[in-house]
Amino acid sequence: MAANRRDFLAGSATMMAAAGAASAAGAAATSGPGTPSAVQPVKVVNLRELEARAEAVIPPAAFAFIAGASGDEWTKAENEAAFSRIRMAPNYLNGLTTVDTSTTLFGTKLATPIIISPMGNQGLAHTSAEGGTAAGAAAEGVLMSVSQSSNLSMEEVQAAGSGPKWIQLYMPRDKGVAREYLARAKAAGYQAVLFTIDTVGETASERSVRAGYTPGRSRHGNFPTPQAMNRGPDWSDVEFVQKNSGGLPVLIKGVLTEGLVKRAVSAGLQGIQVSNHGGRGLDGSPASISVLPRLAQAADGKLTIVLDSGVRRGQDVFRALALGAHAVGVGRPVVYGLGLGGSMGVEAVLAKIKNEFAGVMQASGTATVAKINRSFLFPSTEG
Ligand code: FNR
Repeated sequence: MAANRRDFLAGSATMMAAAGAASAAGAAATSGPGTPSAVQPVKVVNLRELEARAEAVIPPAAFAFIAGASGDEWTKAENEAAFSRIRMAPNYLNGLTTVDTSTTLFGTKLATPIIISPMGNQGLAHTSAEGGTAAGAAAEGVLMSVSQSSNLSMEEVQAAGSGPKWIQLYMPRDKGVAREYLARAKAAGYQAVLFTIDTVGETASERSVRAGYTPGRSRHGNFPTPQAMNRGPDWSDVEFVQKNSGGLPVLIKGVLTEGLVKRAVSAGLQGIQVSNHGGRGLDGSPASISVLPRLAQAADGKLTIVLDSGVRRGQDVFRALALGAHAVGVGRPVVYGLGLGGSMGVEAVLAKIKNEFAGVMQASGTATVAKINRSFLFPSTEG
């Protein structure tokens, strides 16, 4: 029977407790026979083609969980299609021979506005799990968001790579558990909290059901005992997170509508992650990039805006920044890189998209990230 993702979170924890698994050995309960373990250089020509390459090395049910999306997977496909409809406006003879891709998020200077979106159960792709991703991210100076349903604990992930990190939260039903989780994140040096609001209702992908993916086998690194999740978070939960973040900035992740943006501003949130969970939330939702201009307008400069879902090209990074995002999150391609070469695969994926983005900035004549704006895109009615 298809598991709802919140059952899955609780189930993961149950399984872990049953296995008495809290050893630092990590993802053993998640990684299984055939899970890749090689740490090796990966030649990345194109982020999009990594999916097929990863499918050849990651066990089928695990791959189905990672690649899959909700319902007809319409939203997943639309994420990439919508980016491709936005035309770039090159600005040649601009004389630039180099560009500065650095940016600052919540006071932290980053080499690039490209960050890693939070993804649980990375031990399905590689035995190093989130540790490999953290090491690859640190090598490339890329900020990593760490999932609540990671197979390693947040402290283990932090120790695996020294780069800047944000922590992601689903709301546990037990507020004491939530409070402790947030306090641990602050103590472990996480720099912001991403409260994910879009995991509601049936979200298991049909392809993972078909492939016989069993969420209960995943190790849950963050909780020693089973944790039921709140199936219907509301604004009182947002307020709770704000009050208990220990002063860390709070962003809500999964925002697609103006109403939520306006409320986020009035609630005093620091940011939003415009996202449809890579098509894993409500199928039929629009692509994140399609709604971004309207949401950025509603935010009126008062929120830090991260966008994810379907980012595969340096052009996509540029498009999102031009339409009002301050940073973009990359999801699946990072995990595919992890499967193909562990930390070295993650590094190669990040290096590739960072380099593409720098090339796009140069062709557009934008020497710094701050200079990127809508004038470097053609209006949607043209081209
Ligand atoms: C996710 N995502 C996710 N989001 C979140 O807030 N908490 C989580 O635990 C997870 N787990 C997760 C696992 C896997 C395997 C995937 C693919 C995704 C969603 C993720 O943060 C991000 O929104 C999307 O992955 C972005 O879309 P792309 O780049 O994968 O198209």
